[in-house]
Amino acid sequence: MAAVNEIPTSVDSSEKVAETLNFTNGKNKASRDVAWYQPELKQIPETAKQIFQNYSKISDDEIFKHIYRVRDEAWEILPYVCVGCFRFLDFPASLSPAYPEVLERVRAGETLLDMGCGLGQDIRKYVYDGAPADNLIGVDVESRFHDLGYELFKDRDTLKARLVTGDVFEDDFLSEFRGKIDIIFVGSFLHLFTYEQQIKIMAHVTKLLKNRKGSMIFGRHMATAQAGGAFNTSATGWSLYYHSPETINQLLESSSEGKWDVETKLIPYSTASTVVEKGMTWQGGNDIKQMYFSAKKL
Ligand SMILES: C[S@@+](CC[C@H](N)C(=O)[O-])C[C@H]1O[C@@H](n2cnc3c(N)ncnc32)[C@H](O)[C@@H]1O
Repeated sequence: MAAVNEIPTSVDSSEKVAETLNFTNGKNKASRDVAWYQPELKQIPETAKQIFQNYSKISDDEIFKHIYRVRDEAWEILPYVCVGCFRFLDFPASLSPAYPEVLERVRAGETLLDMGCGLGQDIRKYVYDGAPADNLIGVDVESRFHDLGYELFKDRDTLKARLVTGDVFEDDFLSEFRGKIDIIFVGSFLHLFTYEQQIKIMAHVTKLLKNRKGSMIFGRHMATAQAGGAFNTSATGWSLYYHSPETINQLLESSSEGKWDVETKLIPYSTASTVVEKGMTWQGGNDIKQMYFSAKKL
């Protein structure tokens, strides 16, 4: 494993996006013959079931068929692990230790941006939990995920949250929101990039935050119980960066002004959609973890 400072990769942003968006396991069509494409979902996590029933008004006998159809369309766009093994049904922000505080703050009127929101599942969870949709913004470089999110949750005509298409590497990324956001969620996002790319990402997203004590970034990503800072170029089909508590602290310090109060929690790699046929072993041994982190401006 290379140390953070030894990582030499500095990829031009446009090159990076092309590389990411064209990823299809080296084939024209995304192969389903990988361990992280689970053909069958054995059970629907409880939160997902409630949202599909009560928010999307999908009948019980339709839910599985509906999920499979949208999941397979998403897989054709980008064969991410979170798509292949239904991890989007985890509603990952709500599993963060920071979620109760975040929900309370957004319900009280603070603004939240979901960076790399994918199908926008977390946006729907805030709304379901009583947050005003007007205070929620989801951004993703792939507009087809926004469309699929509307299909998944059947709320194209009702969702008031703003879903924006944007590339975090662009210099004018979300310039209209600069200094206006209270809380940013980065779910399964940072680990897609090299450390140097993450410095650029953090420099761009921290500019969106209000310049005041308590402005917050929280998220989850792959991590290791070891020193951290490794960029695994042959992880699940593409590269993944493994953070440690030290590297996430270092990232925040080196990409933004001011000091942060950072909390981290490492947990085993898992999913709420627990019963997946081929197991969850593809991320590596016990040293590979998930990290939840939250960072507040001091
Ligand atoms: C692994 S998914 C995570 C989705 C969701 N946040 C979650 O936790 O399940 C990463 C998302 O980041 C988006 N993404 C990748 N590169 C991006 C970029 N340069 N700018 C904005 N979004 C990007 C992808 O399209 C994808 O939806």
